[in-house]
Amino acid sequence: MHITIKGNMMESNGKNIIITSALPYANGEIHLGHIVSTYLPADIFARFCRSNNKNVVFTCATDDFGTPILLQSEKEKITPEKYIDFWNKRDLADFTNLGISFDFFHNTSSTENIKLTQYFFQKILENNLIYKNEISQLYCEQDKKYLPDRYVLGTCPYCNEDDQYSDGCEKCGKAFIDREILKPRCAICNKTPKLKTSMHYFFKLSLLSSKLKTWLTNNSNLQNDVKNYVMKWIDDGLNDWDITRDISWGVPIPLEEAKNKVLYGWFDNHICYISSTLLFLENKNINGKEFWNNSIIYHFIGKDIVYHHYLFLSAMRLAINEEYKLPEFIPTRGHLMLQGEKFSKSRGWYIGLGEFLDEFPADYLRFYLARITPFNQSDVNFDWEDFAVKINNELVANVGNFIHRILSFIESNYDCTVPEPKEYDKEDHEFLNKIRNANENVTKHLEKNEIDKGLASILNFSDYCNQYFQKREPWKNEESKNTTLYLSINAVLSLSILLFPYIPFSIEKLLTNLNIERDKINWKTNVELFIKPGHEIKKPEILFKKIEKESIEKQKNKLGKKIK
Ligand code: MF3
Ligand code: ZN
Repeated sequence: MHITIKGNMMESNGKNIIITSALPYANGEIHLGHIVSTYLPADIFARFCRSNNKNVVFTCATDDFGTPILLQSEKEKITPEKYIDFWNKRDLADFTNLGISFDFFHNTSSTENIKLTQYFFQKILENNLIYKNEISQLYCEQDKKYLPDRYVLGTCPYCNEDDQYSDGCEKCGKAFIDREILKPRCAICNKTPKLKTSMHYFFKLSLLSSKLKTWLTNNSNLQNDVKNYVMKWIDDGLNDWDITRDISWGVPIPLEEAKNKVLYGWFDNHICYISSTLLFLENKNINGKEFWNNSIIYHFIGKDIVYHHYLFLSAMRLAINEEYKLPEFIPTRGHLMLQGEKFSKSRGWYIGLGEFLDEFPADYLRFYLARITPFNQSDVNFDWEDFAVKINNELVANVGNFIHRILSFIESNYDCTVPEPKEYDKEDHEFLNKIRNANENVTKHLEKNEIDKGLASILNFSDYCNQYFQKREPWKNEESKNTTLYLSINAVLSLSILLFPYIPFSIEKLLTNLNIERDKINWKTNVELFIKPGHEIKKPEILFKKIEKESIEKQKNKLGKKIK
């Protein structure tokens, strides 16, 4: 792992930052939808914090339990362990190829997570917030199985949407219990299931309503619009939560009387945020729990799992007396649309991450998605034409152009050596100011998690740099050209620092060109121009290439006939 944690770990003055991003199910390929809402915003933020010398721990894991995974492994005739292991490796490889810089990537079926989950269960039980109840469960006579969650399809009892799984509705976002679903049918054989009794454990979510409300009200970091509809759910009345499943794949309920039962996946998966962070820290001989409780905590999620993170996760931490602190931030973002339509794997209206990265550099995807993803729950539209326009006009013609002009000018006119500046005139002074203050606006936006606005502000700066260089015409102004180039190469460094969280692969290359080691610089390095006269750069390489029309056409054709 590439992170070294500096300084006193227990200082609580905002230095310790824990960042998690929603755990992908170990059940299929990572796609652009996951990236846009969760992983890219979290990664940009993590890189920004690291550059600001924070002690960042950025973890993730695969979400291994649950009925869909069990169902799929049964279909593929392999053990669930083998199945999840495959996806864990594959997901990590995909994330790495996209430059998602997790400090640690673990899994929810790990020993550590099972242990911590069972600890939560015991504690909550001791605190009288779990009770037993004999309930009727949907049971398929044909398959001789209880049918939890995804084993049953039917109609949502709240909004009437058909084809919903029995654990919650994708349309209206409500989570509910199996028996509530209307017109149930078995997902394996399509027969109508019967009801059969089973002993289940319930978490008293309702009893925590007022504590949850207090937490929501007092936490001013949470996005208001999300907070409002979570409040409304609470006001409408929360149901107690069935945390038991009659299957073998899950965290075993740690009670003799509950031998063949496991905990519901949403009981254990978010605990993995904690267990992975703790394991990572403890491997470094740091007290994980103390670190957790002295950190600012961010859980990045997509809007489809608001209920689980604002209610289940928080209630469970409240239920053990906040032995593990609740999050300060739950940055929540919308879904991804593709050419204006909903993503759909079955209709082929879909872009897998692997497939994308076979055609284009990871930084192009990072740049484009960061450019179009706001900090709210609106859906984001991936459009191939717009992708090409933004890459060609902004990344290539604006940023890339400036960088390349400066580096090649220094190469050909100064034999790769940064010149000594002369007197500054008014324009130079203005430019100097811009360079020194370039990080200010970007910082404001990134601190608020507005990655799109941060990037827009970097592009404005880059635009200004181009205009300055063009106006100064160093190719014919002997007197001022040294100053122009000296300031400009420092502007290139400012750009590299600011763009690093967004396009790390390209900036690594650029820093090599600039002959500067990454660990010598941080977010504020260029407030005092860091590149000095006499510094030698290396022969520049082209960083960004234009996207040709044909390659966009090729991608659009893959999506089939629906695109005009
Ligand atoms: N696997 C879940 C999903 O894809 C997300 C789990 S996030 C966690 O919807 F908090 F629960 F871990
Ligand atoms: Zn059946």
